[in-house]
Amino acid sequence: MLCLGIETTCDESALALLEDGRLLAEELTSQMDMHAPFGGVVPELASREHLRVLPPLLDRLLAGSKVRPQDLDAIAVARGPGLLGSILIGMGLAKGLTLSTEAVLVGVNHLQAHLLAPGLHQELIYPALGLLISGGHTRLYLIQSPLDFQLLGRTLDDAVGEAFDKTAKLLNFPYPGGKHIDLLAAQTSPDTSLFSCPYLENDNLDFSFSGLKTAVAQFVRNRPDLKLPGLLLEPDHQAIAREKPDLAATCASLNWSIARTLSIKTRRALNRQKHIRSLIVAGGVAANHMIRLSMQELAEEQGLPLFLPDPDLCTDNGTMIAHCGSILIAAGHCHDLSLDAIPRGKSVPWDYLPLHQDRN
Ligand code: KG4
Ligand code: ZN
Repeated sequence: MLCLGIETTCDESALALLEDGRLLAEELTSQMDMHAPFGGVVPELASREHLRVLPPLLDRLLAGSKVRPQDLDAIAVARGPGLLGSILIGMGLAKGLTLSTEAVLVGVNHLQAHLLAPGLHQELIYPALGLLISGGHTRLYLIQSPLDFQLLGRTLDDAVGEAFDKTAKLLNFPYPGGKHIDLLAAQTSPDTSLFSCPYLENDNLDFSFSGLKTAVAQFVRNRPDLKLPGLLLEPDHQAIAREKPDLAATCASLNWSIARTLSIKTRRALNRQKHIRSLIVAGGVAANHMIRLSMQELAEEQGLPLFLPDPDLCTDNGTMIAHCGSILIAAGHCHDLSLDAIPRGKSVPWDYLPLHQDRN
């Protein structure tokens, strides 16, 4: 089955072609540089940019892989949750292609796609505990199968990526700043007494990162010398660590506090679900080196295999959408042209239609 994946839920316009699970080609354009001066994604600009770049991206993808639109068997499009205007652009492309070809349309839950992404290169083992950490979400799932996700815990306020990005903005790193905090943190060691690990004194599997974000903001307010003198679009992390060792230590301490918090709650979830056979960690923040290390340690301690996508597959991409869409279609699920987009904060409904046998 030849499946086209379309991802436009935030600031990445991404396409991929997957044939029977094998990646044929992928294209990705990030709008990072466009949004960086604003310190966050500007939704109106994001939609217009998706509209501008998708057609040439599709041309390149098809030309590079010698695939014609009429060769497509399936079109998988990320339907949310995300920025509504941006999703509608990807959805417009998906529906247009569906109308003009014989391909089957399937809407993909962006969060499910993140968590299944490591399955592109390895066979995942179920039931799994899934930790999704991204710019918009921090969630723990019990994953019984690729089609059966049960929410165990979620953030009550900020997503973990927001805690990274808002701190980075305060320090004058460009958006999205999580990567810069991580790269600077890698230059030094954390002070583990600087920031506490938030929202652990309870009995649940939820998260809360707004208090930590405020504590770091307060700390930086009292130490204005930590800030970079102005917005640096291309920071040299080694030079910054040399000139501002306390800034590097602050970043390392935030990294440590977040990694430890995620690890403690994930261990708690594992201890409550004794039948779990593997741990999956995914989403943009799963590219973080300290979080990767602490999840490896946790998986080893628990004697579980850990599925962690390569850093490139952690952040938004079209390949994970094509992969998830292929799994849904193989299971006999599809959508028709009434497929709708799901904005941030809303849950994605399970509203698949049965795929007609003669199309399978
Ligand atoms: O999954 P993703 O690409 O988009 C969403 O679905 O949100 O995740 C983006 C998030 C941003 O908050 C970004 O700062 C964060 O992932 N991120 C990182 C790192 N790389 C990306 N956060 C911490 N350390 C990193 N190395
Ligand atoms: Zn994402």
